[in-house]
Amino acid sequence: MVNHSFQSPKGTRDLFPPDLAALHHIESTWRTASVNAGFDEIEGPNFEHLELYTVKSGDSIVNELFSFRRSGGDVDYALRPEFTPTLARMAAAKGRSLTLPTKWFAIPNHFRAERPQRGRLREFKQWNVDLLGVDKPSADAEVIATAIRALDELGLTHDDIVVRISHRDVVVQMLQESGVTPDKMQIALTLLDKREKMAPEVFVEKITEHGLDATCFDQFDADTEVDHKELASLQKELDAWGISDWCKFDFTIVRGLAYYTGIVFEIHERSGDERAIAGGGRYDRLVEMFGGPSMPAVGFGMGDVVLSLVLKDKGLLGDGSEFLPRPDVFLISAGNDADSHMASTVATLRKAGLHARMTYRATRNVGKLLTEAAKANARHAVILGEELANGNVVIKNMDSGEQEVIAVDDIVSHLTA
Ligand code: HAM
Repeated sequence: MVNHSFQSPKGTRDLFPPDLAALHHIESTWRTASVNAGFDEIEGPNFEHLELYTVKSGDSIVNELFSFRRSGGDVDYALRPEFTPTLARMAAAKGRSLTLPTKWFAIPNHFRAERPQRGRLREFKQWNVDLLGVDKPSADAEVIATAIRALDELGLTHDDIVVRISHRDVVVQMLQESGVTPDKMQIALTLLDKREKMAPEVFVEKITEHGLDATCFDQFDADTEVDHKELASLQKELDAWGISDWCKFDFTIVRGLAYYTGIVFEIHERSGDERAIAGGGRYDRLVEMFGGPSMPAVGFGMGDVVLSLVLKDKGLLGDGSEFLPRPDVFLISAGNDADSHMASTVATLRKAGLHARMTYRATRNVGKLLTEAAKANARHAVILGEELANGNVVIKNMDSGEQEVIAVDDIVSHLTA
């Protein structure tokens, strides 16, 4: 017989209760920030036709696709590596019937066949916030403000986080002016995007390999000031939202995805030690490219993986057990007669909306059973014992240690008082 060792696939996660509780904490913060900012939740399929991604996402995504065919079929599919193509396809399908502006958010799972490393997995969650139908920087500012709202709610401050904002046109112009020819522009942009993740000597090697001059990239080291109408108006909006302290212009940001058309941004932990927490920008032509009407759009995606690392590092996320729901009450039975009352008592408590758990242990040792209640982190323990003969139980407040005898019929009112 073959001895299988069943492990989760490389780059995926098994989420045990505390892990999932921590993820839900992040997701519910994302959801609240979106809903409060007027975004409506959408969802799409976990897999799409392969071409949806090969058309416009760019090589960095295409090289990381998990693609497949149905056995016996002749259509190619891919697990979604990102949500923007799905969102643009959905907007295109609604076409002119879509009320603009449309504000959508989604919290889907994504799949990328990347080399797993710190901050990068093959399956992850990503919060997407997108605003369609407004071509003014006020829309860019609103989506950035929504991202910051969530980060702030999670306990992060502008000392921890920076939103690095750039503009595709500005970067292209800077490269052009330093001598990059149109035929080399795409590779220059790709290399600039990847520069931060490479050793300096590897970067120089790559640019020389492509016949580019290293000095073209030197200008991106300094804090560059530019005079750009859209960025100036974005700056005013960021001031109005009160989030300028979180943001800075940084023209080393290019973004790897091919569909971005104007303002682009990434959110990073300030030290720059981690990969990006989020990335986004304007993609004013994507909906039209997918057969819809011309529709300006801006949005971002924020993953859970790097965000969790940053939150843990700052002491804002424990092992997740702090988010597990606390039982209101844990029932233990200290006598044979009591056993027959256990199920009906638990049923009554649950029907009243309480989180009620019970022991399955056969021991009559109340001390041991109370330890079990404490381990479950219950707020109260109810001991079904001899007092039941008189219709009473002992209830113990597990935080204060106080205990009293109450009527079995009063447990609900005692716990909900
Ligand atoms: P992206 O830069 O490819 O953009 O991904 C956005 C964020 O998703 C990253 O900053 C990172 O936090 C997370 N992420 C990406 N890949 C991985 C991975 N392999 N493991 C863990 N986390 C990852 C987009 O996906 C765009 N579609 C975002 C967007 C929405 N643009 C406009 N609207």
